[in-house]
Amino acid sequence: MSLIIAIDGPAAAGKGTLARRLAAHFALPYLDTGLLYRATARRVLDAGGNPADPAAAAAAARALSPEDTERTDLRVPQVDEAASQVASIPAVRAALLDFQRAFAATNGAVLDGRDIGTVIFPQAQAKLFVTASAEERGRRRWRELTARGVPADLATITAEIRTRDAADAARTAAPLRPADDAMTLDTSHLDADAAFARALELLAGKV
Ligand code: DC
Repeated sequence: MSLIIAIDGPAAAGKGTLARRLAAHFALPYLDTGLLYRATARRVLDAGGNPADPAAAAAAARALSPEDTERTDLRVPQVDEAASQVASIPAVRAALLDFQRAFAATNGAVLDGRDIGTVIFPQAQAKLFVTASAEERGRRRWRELTARGVPADLATITAEIRTRDAADAARTAAPLRPADDAMTLDTSHLDADAAFARALELLAGKV
């Protein structure tokens, strides 16, 4: 099997930055699987539908095109919430499964998400569970939003992150949890360079 590196963990733990750097380092394609759920949610919202409605959400997931994931309005609080809702619907997850597997089939890949090591690629050669305290993750998301000019309140953002993590972990369909063979990387006290260095150490025996 081609080389698969699975990066899972809660929101704003530093998965995306790390996954992108690992992909460049190992010359692998990179897929941010959260964008698939975000783009699905965006389609439902744009059509005036309810993201918690399984039929509407599954239809949006099946209709997804790669361009949908390139939209610039996917990382806004309204979509954070709606993406978490569509992600709890089994038919949505089923509709997005083949795309994720096909993405990595030919050349391998680094994929980040919530269930890459548990559901999408349980046989991945290397699995990292990237996490950080909710306070630190709230600060990171707040900085990211304010840097883009999106108005944000730190306490609200942190509370939303906690709520969303709880929903992602409590859902029955592919809940957020580390795979049994995942290596945990806590980035609470690591900047992006230090997290990357630590990830390379952890992956050294695997990749
Ligand atoms: O990583 P993110 O914040 O962009 O993810 C958006 C939502 O999608 C989040 O609520 C978790 C969900 N998600 C998921 O359930 N499974 C994945 N593989 C990736 C994201």
